[in-house]
Amino acid sequence: MDERLSSGGDLSCAACHHPEQGFTSNETRTAVGNHGKILRRNSPSLFNVAFAAPFFHDGRQPELDLQPLETLVDPDEMAFPSLAAMVARVELLPEYEGRFEEAFEGPPSAERIGRALGSYLRTLLSANSPFDRWYFGGETDAVIPAAKRGFFLFFGGAGCGECHRVTQEAALFTDHDFHDTGVAWAGDDPGRYEVTHDPAHRWQIKTPILRNVALTSPYMHDGSLATLAEVVEFYNQGGFPHEGVDPRIQPLGLSEQEEAELVKFLESLTGDNVDELVREARSHAASDVSD
Ligand code: HEC
Ligand code: HEC
Repeated sequence: MDERLSSGGDLSCAACHHPEQGFTSNETRTAVGNHGKILRRNSPSLFNVAFAAPFFHDGRQPELDLQPLETLVDPDEMAFPSLAAMVARVELLPEYEGRFEEAFEGPPSAERIGRALGSYLRTLLSANSPFDRWYFGGETDAVIPAAKRGFFLFFGGAGCGECHRVTQEAALFTDHDFHDTGVAWAGDDPGRYEVTHDPAHRWQIKTPILRNVALTSPYMHDGSLATLAEVVEFYNQGGFPHEGVDPRIQPLGLSEQEEAELVKFLESLTGDNVDELVREARSHAASDVSD
């Protein structure tokens, strides 16, 4: 979280991925970048990002170790003119002296800085939520009855689990795929199309992991929905219908009570180690490149 890792010396990863705001920015719809520029997309949460490949809302980056390097030289983000300039900055910072040699058997390089940041990101794991303790742990009282009914709606009638999948291997509430829910269409963001140039991918956005989702408002790739209740309402009224929208995005006819139950279920996905991850992130501030 070292702000000296930006060209102007004032922007850290935490400026957009605030640890105490779910590793995103709860107060802005889209990220605020270099010189206060309003960027077009919401900062995704970094909880469980180790499992969020391919990275970015449009999946343009397959490698977690390379993802931060893109941010470091993006003129609207950390804005180093080049990776060489970023490496030169790290070489000048006294507390990093010797640490790359120790950890990576060589002096700072773009590749090693990417690996250091990637290694840190891989530690941001957060599970053991009330949902896990109930569903996997068999603790009947870990979640309230409304959240249980929300779970059955999520994986039943409301069809959410078709895309926010849970499998034998992983309970991440994502299929690691891209879909057109209408949000990108409404906001004129080409989404996945920008990466593949396949017209079938127009307006498609990566299905986000929903763990800790109660902490990561605002929602959707453009932060256009402020609360979980608004997200559920969005799905219930059938998304933003248009040509090409995913056929599973349909008016759901949920009652107000069912909508509230879905929200209660989503609120049961908050892991038990969030405070610990926040404390850890802040205790390394400005002293550890892997922060
Ligand atoms: C100016 C705000 C800003 C800063 C500073 C910033 N990010 Fe981000 N980050 C974003 C936005 C916005 C996106 C999504 C961009 C997109 O999808 O096109 C993103 C995406 C990501 C992703 C992909 C997550 C996923 O689920 O696909 C990772 C990982 C990430 N950032 C890590 C970092 C790290 C590490 C740093 C510091 C080196 C950093 N970010 C600095 C705003 C920022
Ligand atoms: C067709 C696949 C699909 C279905 C069905 C679906 N989702 Fe989504 N969901 C997505 C995609 C893709 C996004 C990202 C959209 C964007 O960012 O523009 C998303 C975003 C979300 C978000 C926002 C997460 C964040 O971090 O911004 C929540 C919450 C959510 N969905 C819950 C649900 C619920 C509840 C249902 C059922 C009522 C549901 N989803 C049904 C694919 C789907």
